[in-house]
Amino acid sequence: MPHHLVSNDRNTSRNASIDPTLDLEAEIQRLKKERNAVLLAHYYQESDIQDVADFLGDSLQLAQAAAKTDADVICFAGVHFMAETAKILNPDKIVVVPDMSAGCSLADGCPGDKFAAWKAKYPGAVVVSYINCSAEVKALSDYIVTSSNAEKIVRHIPEDRQILFAPDKNLGRYLEKKIGRPMVLWQGSCIVHETFSERKLIALKVRHPEALVLAHPECETPILKMADFIGSTTAILNYATASDAREFIVATEAGILHQMQKKAPGKVFIPAPPEASCACNECPFMRKNTLEKVYLALRDLEPRLEMPAELRERARVPIDRMLALS
Ligand code: 13P
Ligand code: SF4
Repeated sequence: MPHHLVSNDRNTSRNASIDPTLDLEAEIQRLKKERNAVLLAHYYQESDIQDVADFLGDSLQLAQAAAKTDADVICFAGVHFMAETAKILNPDKIVVVPDMSAGCSLADGCPGDKFAAWKAKYPGAVVVSYINCSAEVKALSDYIVTSSNAEKIVRHIPEDRQILFAPDKNLGRYLEKKIGRPMVLWQGSCIVHETFSERKLIALKVRHPEALVLAHPECETPILKMADFIGSTTAILNYATASDAREFIVATEAGILHQMQKKAPGKVFIPAPPEASCACNECPFMRKNTLEKVYLALRDLEPRLEMPAELRERARVPIDRMLALS
């Protein structure tokens, strides 16, 4: 059964086992020490998880932190492919995730068997996969990239080689334009970054003419065309902190605003508006993780991420290539 279809009944009964008078933050800090555990979290986690994390970062920084930690346990507050990457880099460590069903529309939209059939149509091509993919897809790839190193790694590939890029067509298109090199693109996308409305963004800019638009390259082309800066979550955060501007419209998952407000309390950060009247600029997968589930993962050391050694070893090759080039 795919991990995102795993029943949540077990989570519900485990949640019910938590004493409601517990100070969860204090308990998490205590358990981290007791277990020699490190809590890694992505910026798209809810604020209270970000506040107890030992390390926050974009996908590349989280993979680098996982590669160099000397903790015995990694608790990964992010989505499945991120924890899987941590396990691939740390086969002997215990990797726990708050919610094993936290998937990703990019990873889930690119199943290993379909990816293998697609790759087989282009013999001799170099296969570059965005880190937002399953271990099966990583194992079939030549290079893994994240939004912060994709340009550098694609530029490193000899000009005469055809490139297949999966699974994010928006990041792929952005790279094609930036580097001036066509690639064969898998037609996947992120449900969160595709939600931003060009029409509403134009209207928002009229009301905030001084605001700079910061966008993640998973956004669609019309949003990227309006952006003053495009980059990974960490790059966007650093840009906003260092900039002389006072107002920013942020076209990525809304969780990042917590760190922006903490790092630059005097500035104004406005989430880019989604087309529908919804909270669809929040990733439903990332938001499956809660402080309660982080506590339970550290208390019970489960759910644990396990994977076959053979898959782990094959998936590690293109990840190591990425880390060496980053
Ligand atoms: P980065 O943090 O690497 O920019 O990735 C964003 C994202 O969508 C992760 O799922
Ligand atoms: Fe996947 Fe998009 Fe959620 Fe990131 S924000 S985990 S790319 S669905």
